[in-house]
Amino acid sequence: MRQRIYFNEVVTRDGFQMEANFVATDTKVALIDALSQCGYAKIEVTSFTSAKAIPMLRDAEEVMGRIQRAPGVEYTVLVPNVRGAERAMEVNPDEFNLVMSASETHNLSNLRMPRDKSFSSLREVIEKCGTQVPINVSLSACFGCPMEGVVPQQEVLQWSERFADLGVRGLTICDTTGMAQPAQVAQLCEALQKRFPSLQLTLHFHNTRGMGLANVLAAVQTGIDRFDGSLGGLGGCPYAPGASGNVSSEDAIHMLDAMGYDTGIDLTCLLPIARELPAIVAHDVPGQVAKSGRITDLHPAPEYVAQLKKDFK
Ligand code: COA
Ligand code: ZN
Repeated sequence: MRQRIYFNEVVTRDGFQMEANFVATDTKVALIDALSQCGYAKIEVTSFTSAKAIPMLRDAEEVMGRIQRAPGVEYTVLVPNVRGAERAMEVNPDEFNLVMSASETHNLSNLRMPRDKSFSSLREVIEKCGTQVPINVSLSACFGCPMEGVVPQQEVLQWSERFADLGVRGLTICDTTGMAQPAQVAQLCEALQKRFPSLQLTLHFHNTRGMGLANVLAAVQTGIDRFDGSLGGLGGCPYAPGASGNVSSEDAIHMLDAMGYDTGIDLTCLLPIARELPAIVAHDVPGQVAKSGRITDLHPAPEYVAQLKKDFK
């Protein structure tokens, strides 16, 4: 049987949060409704952050209220603090994705508080809401911080342990600015799976230095079966200097599909949506397979080839 890999589409959250131009609420809703038909395990719809910090996602309540939820798809939302949790509770998401950074400097830059304060605030969210909604925690900058450099594996394991002790369902290990390399990814994935065998572990890569797909592969080969991806390879944290797009969902899915994994995703449904994305954000996007077509999408040979085939028979 083919090995199942579960994808979480983050384009309308990570993908849009750093875009310069506001994407209309109608467009966001239509995009999520289209993505809901493609076979994703999860869609990260939006984030309940301060509208001043992330103006692009200031319509979080409206988007969550208007999307058509497809059976079998989980709709998750990013929550940075208690205020965000209170807002998110009102719209009944299938999961809270809490966020803090494994790097002190990135946490201060992104969430404006030290990691310990973030942890206390998130613990309060878990204590208040954890019985009503499953909790995932995204740990940012797990492989490297653009301001501090390499983040030691021990830091990631320690913060993971603190959240595991609070009974969270899952952890997402984020390479926020594409600083991870495949050997490091394999090492951390092995250590995490050994230490937390019953946690849902998701890997979240950015392709900032072209290592995104290599990192996905390195993680898959250690047994990781959950990934975040962003349509078109859009994305990035506005409070991490030098951040750029996530691993492109369609490129990662295409690669795993070609290798024989079962991603559950119908690329004939997904690629046309990816091809609409440049019009939505008004610029080109990095994803490659939407431009090139799949490896099974063949081209007609030049006309003279038919003659050459006869000549050389
Ligand atoms: N939703 C809406 N408004 C919020 C909020 C939330 N979750 N959290 C705080 N606010 C508002 C406060 O009401 C306050 O508003 P006011 O200025 O009108 O009084 C303002 O934001 C500042 O509140 P404060 O508690 O001082 O927050 P802060 O300035 O320390 O910011 C965060 C904390 C986490 C809310 C903010 O930095 C943030 O949203 N960052 C975005 C992180 C992010 O999504 N990064 C990318 C993804 S990793
Ligand atoms: Zn990200």
